[in-house]
Amino acid sequence: ADIYFLFSGLIGRSWAMVFAAGGLRVKLYDIAQQQLTSALENICKQMKELEESGFLKGTSSVEQQLALISVCTDLKAAVEGATFIQECTPENLELKKKIFGQLDLIVGDNVILSSSTSCLLPSKLFTGLKHVKQCIVSHPVNPPYFVPLVEIVPHPETDPSTTERTYALMKKIGQSPVKLNREIEGFVLNRLQYAVISEAWRLVGEGVISPTDLDLVMSDGLGMRYAFIGPLETMHLNAEG
Ligand code: NAI
Repeated sequence: ADIYFLFSGLIGRSWAMVFAAGGLRVKLYDIAQQQLTSALENICKQMKELEESGFLKGTSSVEQQLALISVCTDLKAAVEGATFIQECTPENLELKKKIFGQLDLIVGDNVILSSSTSCLLPSKLFTGLKHVKQCIVSHPVNPPYFVPLVEIVPHPETDPSTTERTYALMKKIGQSPVKLNREIEGFVLNRLQYAVISEAWRLVGEGVISPTDLDLVMSDGLGMRYAFIGPLETMHLNAEG
């Protein structure tokens, strides 16, 4: 079976649960055993709560899903047998470059090196790596267990097969991947979000509306629509559609 390998913070844990719900074997790696122990405890607790409330993903039981997750504090051992590595270390360019530099030295030619980064560009993270063709950003949205979107962002030198394999994997585990054809600051979700935030500041700043009412425009209006249908489809269907 495939083995996936992650780091066990907030996002790493969530990814692990999504992968395990999809029936895939997961190995969690972290620098400290304590971090891994608490990650496993936390995952177990979350899964049981999800099962009780009827929201556990996948078709297998909590026990079966937990049995798919193992832990490891040795980077080399963790990577062994991995086909897809989802990096989830803190959002720090130097740290991530160091981790990918280490991985670059020990992985084979078939494993995908994927980063959860929220806003570091692939060209900053992966340029110069021997395995750059196998590198990609797979940006989840918090909490990934409930929000399926994953932005897949290639480096200019990423091999198209890396993008396709990542896309297929995300589909397989029930996420909703989208492909960016090239990297851009903020990727797409945050660019849309920043456009909204910037106009919100302007409207409140110019005294057009109170902060509370501005938020209501989104939560009780526009946001309800956009939970089901995107802006382009809305325009396409509006009035005459
Ligand atoms: P976190 O702080 O919860 O987890 C980071 C993990 O990295 C911890 O388990 C920590 O022990 C480990 N770590 C620290 N130094 C390390 C090292 N030298 N080697 C190996 N592991 C190390 O952070 P979080 O929130 O899970 O974020 C991880 C990544 O996911 C970041 O790049 C972040 O931008 C991205 N992300 C976060 C989202 C969020 O809402 N929190 C949403 C989407 C992406």
